[in-house]
Amino acid sequence: MNIKNIKSEFPIFKQKINGKPLVYLDSANSSQKPQVVINRLSNFYETEFSNVGRSVHSLAVKATNRFEDSRDKVKNYLNAKHREEIIFTKGATESINLVASSFGEKFIEEGDEILTTELEHHSNYVPWHFLRKKKGAIIKFAPVNDRGEVEIDEIRKLINSKTKIIAITHISNVTGTIMPVEKIVELAKEKKIPVLIDGTQGAPHLSLDVQKLDCDFYAISCHKMYGPNGLGILYAKKKWLEELPPYQGGGGMISEVQKDKVTFASFPTKFEAGTMQTPEVVAFSEAIKFIEDLGIKNIQNHEDQILEYGIEKLKKNNSVKIIGDPKERVSVMSFTIKGIHPHDIATILDEDGVAIRAGHHCCQILHDKLGIPATARASIGVYNSKEDIDILCNAIDKCKKVFNI
Ligand SMILES: Cc1ncc(COP(=O)(O)O)c(C=O)c1O
Repeated sequence: MNIKNIKSEFPIFKQKINGKPLVYLDSANSSQKPQVVINRLSNFYETEFSNVGRSVHSLAVKATNRFEDSRDKVKNYLNAKHREEIIFTKGATESINLVASSFGEKFIEEGDEILTTELEHHSNYVPWHFLRKKKGAIIKFAPVNDRGEVEIDEIRKLINSKTKIIAITHISNVTGTIMPVEKIVELAKEKKIPVLIDGTQGAPHLSLDVQKLDCDFYAISCHKMYGPNGLGILYAKKKWLEELPPYQGGGGMISEVQKDKVTFASFPTKFEAGTMQTPEVVAFSEAIKFIEDLGIKNIQNHEDQILEYGIEKLKKNNSVKIIGDPKERVSVMSFTIKGIHPHDIATILDEDGVAIRAGHHCCQILHDKLGIPATARASIGVYNSKEDIDILCNAIDKCKKVFNI
């Protein structure tokens, strides 16, 4: 497998969109799926399907084994210390909700503070907002600077004896800013404050080692990592999983149920209530293998080259304003064109087969700060090339002509 012709591994690129080859620049939203992942999903449904952790027939035992193999694969990929520290969820959103709900229930009291930033996706704000409502907690926001970065000093200034958890993104889904998560964790450790990292945009692009990073929680969205839809991961340190109450109640997560008493299974099962996404979990192993075969560092190098090329080209276009100019950045280029609404940009680009996203990208706090309601966003995945950027830029020029700009 070679990154240069990796598009051929993704069947979606065989089709034309509006008569044009598909230029997919929306991977920060969701990535396309390689054939190996699709094959694993359909093979599993065709020949191996069964629910896990319940029945004792052959199919069920095999499915349970494959499901748990996937947990091992994720554990190794993240370099977690224990396989039980890997919890399957339905997405990064659910992973963060799980922590906000369970950690919040046990450890947050009225007046306690949750420290986050102005860069966050709604998924790393609204769950904390629920907690604020329920418990009378306070949310503090470290401000974003003009470059689209959050400086470590701003975080340091906001930490005090009431800070009970720091919840930060690894990479902004609007500016592509790589946050100094290592330094933030170091700072938090000095004060014994746990750190949750929203790794939704980090995991598809950066090499990860959760033991080295030493964060307490790391949330992942598998559908942005060339994996199946409807699947996420929560990495959580064992010491927290031993203490946190379950997030949802139902089948699978219990030890014993009586009319007046319920006891719970041990983790991770305690946090995996109900029927799990077995085929998706099993097929996610193939997505990890796909990334490992290419090498995450090679993927990052490749994407960095395209990003640099894209930013240079967009900067040359006088009408285009790129949002943010962070020193450390990956994959994402959000921009505006004066006089054209981002939704119109996205619609006109689509006529040329160019798929981008327009809107507030679930980051209204950041857009309020920027003083704009919406931006257009082109985001890069492993299958993109410099040619895709050329097509994007030509489509932008065409769009400007439509609006006489
Ligand atoms: C930074 C960030 N956090 C969280 C999420 C939520 O991920 P999911 O919708 O897969 O749960 C996203 C999705 O775009 C994101 O970009």
